[in-house]
This record gives sequence, C-alpha cells and structure tokens, in this order.
Amino acid sequence: MMHKVAFPDGAVVPALGQGTWKIGEGRAPARQEAAAIRLGIELGLVLIDTAEMYGDGASERVVGEAIAGLRERVFLVTKVYPHNASRSGVPAACARSLKRLGTDVIDLYLLHWRGGTPLAETVAAFEGLRAEGKIRRWGVSNFDVDDMQELLSVPDGQNCAANQVLYNPEYRGIEFDLMAWQERHLIPVMAYSPIGQGGRLLRNPALKAVAARHGATPAQVAIAWSLRQRGVFSIPKSGEAAHVRENAAAGALTLTPEDLAEIDRAYKPPTRKQSLGML
Ligand SMILES: NC(=O)c1ccc[n+]([C@@H]2O[C@H](COP(=O)([O-])OP(=O)(O)OC[C@H]3O[C@@H](n4cnc5c(N)ncnc54)[C@H](OP(=O)(O)O)[C@@H]3O)[C@@H](O)[C@H]2O)c1
Repeated sequence: MMHKVAFPDGAVVPALGQGTWKIGEGRAPARQEAAAIRLGIELGLVLIDTAEMYGDGASERVVGEAIAGLRERVFLVTKVYPHNASRSGVPAACARSLKRLGTDVIDLYLLHWRGGTPLAETVAAFEGLRAEGKIRRWGVSNFDVDDMQELLSVPDGQNCAANQVLYNPEYRGIEFDLMAWQERHLIPVMAYSPIGQGGRLLRNPALKAVAARHGATPAQVAIAWSLRQRGVFSIPKSGEAAHVRENAAAGALTLTPEDLAEIDRAYKPPTRKQSLGML
C-alpha cells in the first residue's frame, strides 16, 4: 500500500503523484497523455502537478481534459509565475488556470519560484483566493531554508502548505537542512524530477543493481528512494501508460538498508550546506 502525507491543515493525500511538465507539447498525442494521466488516477496517483508555465497553458489544458468527470478524486496542484505573483496578478493568473483546468477550485496553488514581488504581497493574494474558495491552500516551490524563514515571518506566511523542490539521488542537498527544517514546521516536501528526467540517473550501476535485486526498474528504485522518508511527496511525470503503471507500482517498493547504503556510495549524502538545485 502506498503511504500518505498530511498537509498542515489535516488533508491527507497519497505520497506518490504525477508531474505534467512537457505534457501538451506534442511529444505524444494529447489524447494519449490525458489517458496516461487518467490511468495514473485509477492506480492511485491522484495528486497531479502542473503549472501555468508548462507549454504556456497546454499542460493545464491536457490535465483539464484528463480529470473531466474525475475532479472529486483528484488533488490538483498548479503554479503561478513569479512575474504574476502580485496582488492583482495572482487572482488573474488563477482565473486563467481554473478555466484551462475546467474546475472551480485548485487544491494547492504554488508560487513557482521566488521573484521580485514582496512575499507579503503574494501571500496576501493567496489568502484572498483562499477566502474566496478559489484555492484550498497555497505553497511555494524552489524555496531554500532562508526563503522559507522569511516566508514564515510575513503575515499569514505560516499558512504555507508545501515547498516543491528538486530531489533525487543526484540532487540531495536538501537532506542537509531544508528537509529537517520543513519536517519541524510540518510543511511537506514535494520532490520534483524524482527520476532525474529519465536521464543518466536511470543508467547508474548502483540503481541498476538495487533494481535487479527487487525485480524492479531503476525508475522504480529512484521513486521509492524519494519516498523513503515520511512527509515527502514524489511527482514523476509520464505521458506513457506503460511508464505510469511502472511508476505507480513503485509506491509499494521498500528499499532495504543495504539498498540505501549502495545508493549512498554512488551518490554521497551532503555533509555541508549546498545551494538548492533547480531545473
Ligand atoms: N517546481 C518546479 O520548478 C519543477 C521543476 C521541474 C519539474 N517539476 C514537476 O515535477 C514533475 C516531474 O519532474 P520532471 O518531469 O522534470 O522529471 P521526472 O519525472 O524525473 O522524469 C520525467 C521523464 O522521465 C520519463 N519517464 C517517466 N517514467 C519513466 C519510467 N518508468 N522509465 C523511464 N523513463 C520514464 C518521462 O518520459 P515519458 O513521458 O515518455 O514516460 C520523462 O521524459 C514535472 O513534470 C513537474 O510537474 C517542477
């Protein structure tokens, strides 16, 4: 059984979800991509992450198509561009996202990364949307510890419900500080690019060896690794049904101490502060 993660307000959602960057950009037919997302929902990957940035709204449109008729089962995450993160820009961007997504409420609305707008202004705009019922909760993305500390110091900043950051064996700097900081403040981590965008991480001999021991694939090992600590969501993206099935099954894979030690030898845990990686 896949474990779940609790948000600060008590909402509980399965830890393994689905990313959607590059969906709706013609890599595969949009109908196939929407079907893959729907299959993921059937398999329990109900948290779906998108952003106004992805394909200039194309990803949100495919997600909207995929979740039509399934909205109640889905936990919908989307993101606002930093250049739209002002008092008037946030509600306008949110209205556009809601339209593309074909829904009247977003479960979690994230600031995609930190830009020039004061955090207090963006938070006030998020709180306004929450009061209006357009979003259920809000959070941030690509925030390091110093940004999180500053966020919690502005009015209502402590209502932040998540921080979505790069996390996979190649980029594990957050283990030094951010992860524990978020755990202390009960703010879940959402791990993005958990399979290293399907690139060299999946060719790593350690991941291959661990996978072979479990009769699994390196992608499944990377996903299980990202989920090994409680309080962490993982959102691999796939527009292909076979990959979605494979990724969903990783929710049931538990790595042994021996597996984790082998991955640690290939990708050393951080021993000092590293600046937050970003893709
Ligand atoms: N907040 C941010 O700044 C930020 C930044 C990056 C990503 N994200 C979010 O996090 C999500 C995941 O990150 P990501 O898309 O960068 O990378 P990822 O999920 O680590 O990797 C996705 C890539 O891996 C391939 N893939 C998926 N399942 C596979 C499998 N079982 N075996 C082999 N290859 C597989 C996919 O291709 P197929 O589609 O062909 O399967 C795709 O090319 C994004 O989609 C997005 O929602 C957020």
